[in-house]
Amino acid sequence: MKRTAIITGASSGIGRQMAIDLDLRGFDTVLVARRGERLQKLASELRHNAEVFECDLSQEQECFRLYEAFRDREDVLVLINNAGFGQLGFFDEVPLERELDMLSVNVKSVHILTKLFLKDFMARDKGYILNVASSAGLMPGGPMMSTYYATKAYVKSLTLAVNEELAQKKSRVWVCTLCPGPVDTEFNEVADCSFSISGISAEYCAKYAIRKMFERQLVIVPGTGMKAGVAASRIIPTRLFLKAANTFQTKKIK
Ligand SMILES: NC(=O)c1ccc[n+]([C@@H]2O[C@H](COP(=O)([O-])OP(=O)(O)OC[C@H]3O[C@@H](n4cnc5c(N)ncnc54)[C@H](OP(=O)(O)O)[C@@H]3O)[C@@H](O)[C@H]2O)c1
Repeated sequence: MKRTAIITGASSGIGRQMAIDLDLRGFDTVLVARRGERLQKLASELRHNAEVFECDLSQEQECFRLYEAFRDREDVLVLINNAGFGQLGFFDEVPLERELDMLSVNVKSVHILTKLFLKDFMARDKGYILNVASSAGLMPGGPMMSTYYATKAYVKSLTLAVNEELAQKKSRVWVCTLCPGPVDTEFNEVADCSFSISGISAEYCAKYAIRKMFERQLVIVPGTGMKAGVAASRIIPTRLFLKAANTFQTKKIK
């Protein structure tokens, strides 16, 4: 039977690698992002059917357009809300427009698409939704990237709560969240960051995430180093953590 995965942010980085991994697993894919040419190129390289859906997820109506295009497709089994971006800078200096865009992509689009597709998945009693947050979402806050950390905390919190509701309703639908540390992608370039510490590869991150999603893990943190970092952030006093995070983020200023 035909199985299809929708992947947002498939034109680059983690999303692109997730599309490749799902294709290798035999899935048809729906590749979503703004840069259509990149999506077309990826689609031509995949072995199974790949549909390109050019879409700006910062626009609410575009999220609805994506849902309407696939809502009746019973073969859609996986939704990956991966599109997102960050911005380095002091909270009082980053332009509000940039932050509102970030809230729209990182939070609003994830919220809308999770809600709409979840209802359909629940009605069919099958399906997986993977919401890409970040290790940032597991930590108390991130000076110099305050809005980004806050958006990822939202994604993590929403996902955990919805997962428990599904368990209470004995649904077989699985909703989970990916919380990686640094991954080598175009993220830093988009966020105006210079290189700080080297990250894991997008390929490793994506493969690990997809495997853990199908194993029904709730919070997916690739890499032992980052698992240790997340554990440490829970025991370090908040004020101390924030100072350390500030030092780390400040090193990324160009
Ligand atoms: N790299 C890291 O260190 C890291 C760590 C933790 C979490 N993450 C998260 O991982 C996810 C993927 O990021 P990445 O590292 O792979 O970065 P990336 O290489 O910059 O990829 C970001 C993707 O998001 C898409 N996107 C951004 N704005 C969009 C919009 N308005 N509408 C539609 N698509 C949009 C981009 O496509 P277009 O530009 O073509 O639209 C691109 O495909 C993000 O949610 C990010 O927060 C990254």
